[in-house]
Amino acid sequence: MVADDLARQKAAALRADWTTDDQYYDNADSWVGSFWADQTPFRQMFNRLDPHVIVELACGRGRHSWQMKDWSNRKILIDVVPENIEFCRRRFTGVANVECLANNGVDLAGVETASATALFCYDAMVHFDHVIVLQYLLETARILKPGGQALLHHSNYPGNPGGDYKTNPHWRAFMPGGLFVDYCRKAGLDVIEQRLIGWGGEPALDCVSLIGKPAA
Ligand SMILES: C[S@@+](CC[C@H](N)C(=O)[O-])C[C@H]1O[C@@H](n2cnc3c(N)ncnc32)[C@H](O)[C@@H]1O
Repeated sequence: MVADDLARQKAAALRADWTTDDQYYDNADSWVGSFWADQTPFRQMFNRLDPHVIVELACGRGRHSWQMKDWSNRKILIDVVPENIEFCRRRFTGVANVECLANNGVDLAGVETASATALFCYDAMVHFDHVIVLQYLLETARILKPGGQALLHHSNYPGNPGGDYKTNPHWRAFMPGGLFVDYCRKAGLDVIEQRLIGWGGEPALDCVSLIGKPAA
């Protein structure tokens, strides 16, 4: 099997895992403040992005981009589950400058090269197999304008290599220290800042990384 086929196989499994989790989606809006309140690491790092043309990867039912509903920026919401994208289209009806795209779980094919000022992904990449993370980093490098930045919330869990992510704490994927940075460098992206964060009482289970495409 070639690496691309492996990534697509992993993406198909993720699509199945996240198609029917109504319990998650029904509750998710009630704790969106843990990402958007002023003093959270997420908000502090998000404030460094230029949101003029922003892609939200793995948007779910749109609770994060909804925080920007009154902003005049262009928002591109992407998710591997078509039902989530249909939900977002309904949710954002009447909100200007919003595009909602269902993707294949490995690339950003609907987004033009060098067109976005920023990309972010919260509470989703933590579950992605690292072969998918590499694909998305390569795609992030493609779609960002020179000088553009991405804010990615990903796993920092070093256990269970080759295993099922759903058997790990909080469904975190295997992502040993250093691997994310290695992939960023291979994708031609600079790692600007990383903050380790706890999740569900597990210290340093996750990492929030601000990365950038070098200015031309
Ligand atoms: C835990 S939910 C989080 C949704 C949203 N980020 C939020 O915080 O509300 C995980 C999301 O990742 C999406 N997802 C899973 N694998 C994906 C992939 N390979 N590419 C794009 N989206 C994916 C799922 O469909 C789901 O919407």
